Amino acid sequence: MIVEPLLQGAGGMIVHPVEFLQRVRRLCSEYGVLLIADEVLTGFGRCGKMVACELAGVVPDLMCLSKGLPGGILPMGATVCTRQLHEAFVSADRSHTFYHGHSYTGNPIAAAAAVASLQIFEREPVFERINAIATIHCERLESIRNHPAVGDVRSIGTVAAVELRADDAGYFSKLKPMLYKFFLDAGVLLRPLGNVVYVMPPYAISSNDLHYIHDCIAKSLDL
Ligand SMILES: Cc1ncc(COP(=O)(O)O)c(C=O)c1O
Repeated sequence: MIVEPLLQGAGGMIVHPVEFLQRVRRLCSEYGVLLIADEVLTGFGRCGKMVACELAGVVPDLMCLSKGLPGGILPMGATVCTRQLHEAFVSADRSHTFYHGHSYTGNPIAAAAAVASLQIFEREPVFERINAIATIHCERLESIRNHPAVGDVRSIGTVAAVELRADDAGYFSKLKPMLYKFFLDAGVLLRPLGNVVYVMPPYAISSNDLHYIHDCIAKSLDL
């Protein structure tokens, strides 16, 4: 069972309740199914905790990590698993080995970036920054929630999304190219998912810059 925990990203920035993930975990355990959490987008503080599963108190059997691992700066991914799964491949018999690798497995430059990024988590108040972003998102989304152009607003941690009303709602909505150009002309690079505008800023963003992005989104509602 593969899930994007708590937040379906490219699918439209859809947030689901923790109870959904908890129930999936229970069902997987009940039926002996491995639970794979795709934390590629949600990992490393994106949703407010180091990994999104933590918000639901859920431990998956396997976890996919990437984007935030090297701070989004170099390509690196990692798959981690429980000790129990790992031990299934530990044997003196080499045919039990999980033979697997990528061309750039363990790339030292990407690994150095990942170590540096993890050190920033240890040395700097990263979660304070994350909480500050989350607070601004919540305030700004509330202020546009009742605008007639807005169908829904949602946020989780540092991710904010505004779903615009559209006759052609979905990934191919005509609103996307129009909005993309509008934001770019204002100096902001946003990539709406069809009629869903989302903000997923680097944690180092200043509050002024973040407010400016929300100002642009608010203006786009009157296009
Ligand atoms: C949740 C999720 N999983 C996987 C991927 C793709 O990861 P990769 O580029 O490492 O294959 C993405 C990319 O945007 C993603 O958002």
